[in-house]
Amino acid sequence: MQAAATRIESEAVDEETARYWDELYAARERYWSGRANPHLVTVAGALPPGTVLDLGCGEGGDAIWLARQGWRVTAVDVSRTALDRAAAEASAAGVTGRIDFRRHDLTRDFPDGRFDLVSAQFLQSPIEFPRDEVLRAAARAVAPGGRLLIVEHGEMPPWARAHHPETHFPTPQETLASLALDPDAWHTERVEAVHREGTGPNGETGHLVDNLVLVRRR
Ligand SMILES: C[S@@+](CC[C@H](N)C(=O)[O-])C[C@H]1O[C@@H](n2cnc3c(N)ncnc32)[C@H](O)[C@@H]1O
Repeated sequence: MQAAATRIESEAVDEETARYWDELYAARERYWSGRANPHLVTVAGALPPGTVLDLGCGEGGDAIWLARQGWRVTAVDVSRTALDRAAAEASAAGVTGRIDFRRHDLTRDFPDGRFDLVSAQFLQSPIEFPRDEVLRAAARAVAPGGRLLIVEHGEMPPWARAHHPETHFPTPQETLASLALDPDAWHTERVEAVHREGTGPNGETGHLVDNLVLVRRR
């Protein structure tokens, strides 16, 4: 095992937000599968590795996969519980040296720098979350020639419907419009709803609709 890297901890964190996500993660030994998100694998797998910012990295499945592909990863989450697990997994995988884990509340502040790829995988929240603002900040963090990949639920996963029956989900076109990108400065590569079979936190399988938005800064 490698020594854990020093973690950057932003002071500007909304404690209620942090508590919500810490409690959600603490309720289970592991919340997500540990596997990388499939659309990220397809998109990033076709790119030459560079720098990547993983927003809302959770337990680190994407960050670790990216590091293994040779990317230099900055992985950000508001939950200490999730980040601790992600760092332990990264250490076990031997990729600690390629990932900077940072605790940020993205509604309060944003990591510095410009990245070849900025990835927001299911950066969605059942509690107050000004997502449009966060995604616009994500677009600003893309380096010239780099890409922003947003993957989000296009409808509630079957296993979560009972808990959040009223939630509105944007279409991929609405998500793209919410970024308010200058068409002279950005090229839209993909805007689509993708259907697939997926697995929920309790191992349940079901039909999922994922919105996928991929834009490239010229
Ligand atoms: C639905 S989970 C997705 C996790 C991971 N990207 C994945 O696809 O498995 C959303 C993640 O965003 C994080 N998050 C929620 N609000 C946040 C905020 N304001 N700042 C930073 N991270 C936040 C949560 O802690 C959680 O890990």
